[in-house]
Amino acid sequence: MSAPQPSAKAFVPFVSVETMMRLVHHIGIETMLVELAGAIEADFRRWDVFDKTPRIASHSNDGVIELMPTSDGEIYAFKYVNGHPKNMAQGLQTVTAFGLLAQVSTGYPLLLTEMTLLTALRTAATSAMAARHLAPKGVTTMAMIGNGAQAEFQALAMKAFLGIKVVRLYDIDPQATEKTRRNLTGSGLELITCNTAQAAIEGAGIITTCTADKQYATILTDNMVGAGVHINAIGGDCPGKTELHKDILLRADTFVEYSPQTRIEGEIQQMAEDYPVTELWQVVSGAMPGRRDQNQITLFDSVGFAIEDFSALRYVHQKLSGTGFSQDLDIIADPDDPRDLFGMLQRAK
Ligand SMILES: NC(=O)c1ccc[n+]([C@@H]2O[C@H](COP(=O)([O-])OP(=O)(O)OC[C@H]3O[C@@H](n4cnc5c(N)ncnc54)[C@H](O)[C@@H]3O)[C@@H](O)[C@H]2O)c1
Repeated sequence: MSAPQPSAKAFVPFVSVETMMRLVHHIGIETMLVELAGAIEADFRRWDVFDKTPRIASHSNDGVIELMPTSDGEIYAFKYVNGHPKNMAQGLQTVTAFGLLAQVSTGYPLLLTEMTLLTALRTAATSAMAARHLAPKGVTTMAMIGNGAQAEFQALAMKAFLGIKVVRLYDIDPQATEKTRRNLTGSGLELITCNTAQAAIEGAGIITTCTADKQYATILTDNMVGAGVHINAIGGDCPGKTELHKDILLRADTFVEYSPQTRIEGEIQQMAEDYPVTELWQVVSGAMPGRRDQNQITLFDSVGFAIEDFSALRYVHQKLSGTGFSQDLDIIADPDDPRDLFGMLQRAK
């Protein structure tokens, strides 16, 4: 006897890496970055409705594996993500991810998707959204320090959302910079290859650090950072893994996603528990000011928070309706009689 066919309720839309790439090109990457920034900003404006918890991290000597859950009461989302800086030397990526969206009322999944690409997109979109509130007015030049997997996404989001025109690139590995330069050629950005981090930040109104190293690294020291810049610090996102000298934090006004998580994982892990920070949602909602004057050093101490993934998952889910950009996966057991799970198994013999 052939196995019974799954009913429609058994199927969950699945977006593979290949399909995600087609979806991004269908929408257009810069459009998608801008729309994602808008989706994240809209969810930051209703911050109160979300379940919030520092992500659940499993640390090892080699890296970290994390689960990032949240819910707005109607929709639940989680992301599985890893961070393994040594992976690159083995031909593996530092960060990979997948995620799921589910209906709170039934607990049934609505979407399962790759999130390695989506993480790069949402991280860049969040950076651009933060920079719009924090970067100096009229900024046209950014430094991009760390030219790995995230780099091009970061540069394009700043171009699309803020009008950045010039990107000054630096990586300890010149091949990474060459790769980024190649990938961004034709994007409309002027690209300048620099031989040191110090050279990269010259004249830059936004300094993005996006390096991967499992240690307290010092990509920027205090003497390198002049008045009035915005620092977008992406790579310090784990206990024992930072990018900025702590003296910079003493001079900067620091903005974070969710402070209980950032105090564990961000640049501010180097500071006392009462080091003052502003949560980005407070700025987005108008409750707190972003940049106040042209001499202020602003720092977005980015670590990545579950609500950004929620927004990105929901955005993708909305984009799927009526398109062929997903395949149905039979991942929910759906017996005709809900109590006859065993009978369903027996009939499949
Ligand atoms: N904040 C977030 O939401 C978020 C999201 C994704 C990734 N990340 C973090 O961002 C970082 C970059 O991720 P990725 O996927 O691009 O990693 P990657 O391994 O692909 O690239 C990292 C790059 O940093 C360079 N690098 C290392 N040390 C350096 C130094 N001292 N100076 C200059 N360059 C240096 C490496 O040569 C490499 O090219 C990681 O630390 C990752 O954990 C954060």
